[in-house]
Amino acid sequence: MITEVNDFEIVAPILKEYFHGYIVNNDPFEKVAIYNHNGIMGIISYSIMYERAEINYIITLPHFRHKGIGSKLLEYALKDISNKKCKSISLEVETENEEAINLYLKYGFKREIIRPHYYAGKDAYLMTKEIEVK
Ligand SMILES: CC(C)(COP(=O)(O)OP(=O)(O)OC[C@H]1O[C@@H](n2cnc3c(N)ncnc32)[C@H](O)[C@@H]1OP(=O)(O)O)[C@@H](O)C(=O)NCCC(=O)NCCS
Repeated sequence: MITEVNDFEIVAPILKEYFHGYIVNNDPFEKVAIYNHNGIMGIISYSIMYERAEINYIITLPHFRHKGIGSKLLEYALKDISNKKCKSISLEVETENEEAINLYLKYGFKREIIRPHYYAGKDAYLMTKEIEVK
């Protein structure tokens, strides 16, 4: 089950382990949703800023990967973002993070440019997706 959480401290220990540089609750637009089944199995964070949105991070805990949880979390965020009438979504992902890049490509994101040294000396792709507003 996917639920939105308001208390970001719930995800802080997981973030600390997987994205130790990420600052919790620094973004007033940020939304965090967890995939929960007897405990947290995955998390997605995204920010909706008027006509545009950003995916901040998505994590499936290692034991639960390749079971569709990352896809379900991304679908959840994309639906919310689309409902809020956003026109575009962007994200940064390390150029060597094949799993995540494939996940984003699967959902229609395109690699735009490389941002050199984006993550402590490691390059990142800026990936974007346009949304057709009905
Ligand atoms: C990226 C991540 C969230 C994917 O989560 P997941 O729950 O395993 O994803 P899913 O099972 O829904 O797989 C979705 C797609 O991701 C891609 N993918 C997942 N694992 C992959 C692997 N080992 N190799 C290549 N592509 C992979 C595939 O495109 C897959 O689609 P498919 O099953 O139709 O081939 C997970 O690997 C993760 O938490 N990584 C560490 C954190 C991270 O780097 N996050 C992204 C940066 S913010």
